[in-house]
Amino acid sequence: DAVERGEYRHYMLKEIHEQPEAVARTLEGRIAGSRILPNVFGVAAEALLAQVRQVHIVACGTSYHAGLVARYWIEALAGLPCAVEVASEYRYRETVVPPGTLFVAVSQSGETADTLAALRSGRAGARYLGALAVCNVPESSLVRESDLVLMTRAGPEIGVASTKAFTTQLAALALLALELARINGIADERYQALVGELATLPRMVAEALKLEPAIAALAERFVDKQHALFLGRGASYPIAVEAALKLKEISYIHAEAYPAGELKHGPLALVDEHMPVIAVAPNNQLLEKLKSNLEEVRARGGELFVIADTDVDVKLDPNRGALLRIDAGHNLVSPAVFNIPLQLLAYHVAVLKGTDVDQPRNLAKSVTVE
Ligand code: G6P
Repeated sequence: DAVERGEYRHYMLKEIHEQPEAVARTLEGRIAGSRILPNVFGVAAEALLAQVRQVHIVACGTSYHAGLVARYWIEALAGLPCAVEVASEYRYRETVVPPGTLFVAVSQSGETADTLAALRSGRAGARYLGALAVCNVPESSLVRESDLVLMTRAGPEIGVASTKAFTTQLAALALLALELARINGIADERYQALVGELATLPRMVAEALKLEPAIAALAERFVDKQHALFLGRGASYPIAVEAALKLKEISYIHAEAYPAGELKHGPLALVDEHMPVIAVAPNNQLLEKLKSNLEEVRARGGELFVIADTDVDVKLDPNRGALLRIDAGHNLVSPAVFNIPLQLLAYHVAVLKGTDVDQPRNLAKSVTVE
């Protein structure tokens, strides 16, 4: 055990630090120059993907959050409608599956009972055009039973709280979104620019990891908290959701995530001096809206922690919060980059609280029974 963990105190920390190499592996041999190589999704893929009219992404836990990010990309870049749902709901709901639906199952293990059941029930009725597995385990049931496969290549993930599996899922789903975008006629110049941005992800993740000392210091301000609220907008909203899940899973602090625009519709009532609010602030067209949401938090005495892109300026009360800067890169990769300091935050809070980081109470790495 100690040998495998090497210099790291926990598997989770090791796996967090493996992310630049893991993401590089996800992209390796799949991008050449500024193009995605043919046959990345298998030989039969091109013809099948050309018939896709909408996408249904189904997953559980952290994998579901990767799907939520992918929806922003697929709709914005490929112009295809995309629905994302947790597998335990999807499998029992009377879903409408229009002709031309690509079913995408996202799963680290490829053995999650609900995700497999959703795949199987759709296949039994031949309701899908095809099923694509985005998965980390080549010999898994999910991979065996899907028409198309995109392996995430994260390597074995031991920590129950998923980290490198998530980041590699994002990279794989970005490949899918860009491939669908190309097939559906995105301007070639834009396509090439976006593939080029995706290729920078391993380097951006490596840079983001350098924030660890600052995050570890910040973590001390969370140890005595009972609750935390995470905010994001656009494709950063699912990153806030994932950050809240990580904090819950390993530090046992009650955490919720909201799209920042929903603040006024409820969560603002919870904001007082005991409520830390963590916001993700990329430099995009939603920034001004986000800033006014943060102003509402500040005005109510909430302790505001903002993780902001380098050129983003946020007004903060120095005694009531903190601003952490990160080079989040281009819009396409920024959700994956913002995710890194938030993983580190959950990790360091859990370490300070003395919980069993790699094996949080009541949770399993893979939920293979319903
Ligand atoms: C469990 C794990 C999570 C994981 C989820 C889905 O809850 O603790 O880390 O995200 O299952 O697992 P999968 O293998 O399908 O991605």
